[in-house]
Amino acid sequence: MPSAIRLHRTGGPEVLALEDVEVPPPGPGQLAVRHTYAGLNFIDVYHRTGLYPLTLPLTLGDEAAGRVTAVGAGVRGFAVGDRVAYARATGAWCTERVLSADLAVHLPDGVSDQLAAAVLLKGMTAEYLVRRTVALRPGHVVLFHAAAGGTGLLACQWARALGARVIGAVSTPEKAALAKAHGCDAVVITQKRNFVTDVKALTDGKGVDVVYDSVGQATFEGSLACLKPRGMLVSFGQSSGRPPALELGRLGGDRSLYVTRPSLGAYVSTRQELETCSAALFEVLEKGFVKPPPIRTVPLAQAAAAMAALEARRTTGSTVLEIDAALAATGLASPGKAGKPGKAAKPAKKAKPQAAKAPAKKKR
Ligand SMILES: NC(=O)c1ccc[n+]([C@@H]2O[C@H](COP(=O)([O-])OP(=O)(O)OC[C@H]3O[C@@H](n4cnc5c(N)ncnc54)[C@H](OP(=O)(O)O)[C@@H]3O)[C@@H](O)[C@H]2O)c1
Repeated sequence: MPSAIRLHRTGGPEVLALEDVEVPPPGPGQLAVRHTYAGLNFIDVYHRTGLYPLTLPLTLGDEAAGRVTAVGAGVRGFAVGDRVAYARATGAWCTERVLSADLAVHLPDGVSDQLAAAVLLKGMTAEYLVRRTVALRPGHVVLFHAAAGGTGLLACQWARALGARVIGAVSTPEKAALAKAHGCDAVVITQKRNFVTDVKALTDGKGVDVVYDSVGQATFEGSLACLKPRGMLVSFGQSSGRPPALELGRLGGDRSLYVTRPSLGAYVSTRQELETCSAALFEVLEKGFVKPPPIRTVPLAQAAAAMAALEARRTTGSTVLEIDAALAATGLASPGKAGKPGKAAKPAKKAKPQAAKAPAKKKR
């Protein structure tokens, strides 16, 4: 019998329950997929707490990898047995499901199911943040909050590969070491020190071109203070709570700042964008410009505990929920270097900027 992590009411991790579920056959335009691994993301916390309201009851989780087991009428480009993954379809924390074929992408041989579940959502986010929200290039200096997190470890490496100087912000010295091994040229530790002072010191008082802030409430004001004239604040999350309302006039004056609040959905809103974005991610992983982050694997039944650790800032890198490791081991040609989670031994190489650019770069 298929099973799923279900949410009947919003609240803490304790509201999650593993339950048996019925799975219908795929309708027109849909795929049936048996899952191997599912991804854990901070958006799952927003869904569980109700910060981003959804209609209940539901199966939690937006991201998973697995095998196509049936194809609905009218679906082109997918067949039974295909290795696929997706990152934007709530209902992922389950053994099997149906979903719109438009949301799924094929996995290349060099990307394992486990890696796909660990990086697809976070890595596509990294892609749009560093190549499209701002097209980073040599000379740019950026501050990236939560640099040792799942999104942070991928985005900092990618930003560095494009030639930017990357300053990471993290809460502990342990996280600082990991961030330094994944693309950060320098790291500020927020636990005991004011990050604005430290960022100013690292930039000779000038500030940075771009701040990527997914922490929200706790860091928003400091992030604005870190910007140099005409700098851009990219507010893309709120792990500490919603950022405060911003009076537009505060952006004016001598600094003339920019603020944007991007979401992955707006950057992969068409099939073409999804394919280009995911292909760019797989390419930087397979070519080694971006190393896989450390991946922590926990059984699907322990999703609540895994989530509690993420919320309590006890995690680094990515966490995946294991659903069917034996199935994951089938149909996979010997994985390339991208198939193995990274050990974070050496700092990411500063690649020649043009080599790190995947095709179809879109300028703002
Ligand atoms: N807009 C988009 O398209 C998009 C897409 C993906 C993710 N996101 C956002 O990106 C962020 C990172 O997501 P992720 O899944 O990769 O998570 P993550 O970075 O692995 O984990 C969150 C990290 O945020 C930091 N943090 C600071 N204050 C916190 C607090 N009060 N509570 C919890 N964490 C706090 C912690 O790092 P330190 O301990 O080092 O401070 C923590 O490890 C989230 O805010 C998420 O919503 C946005």
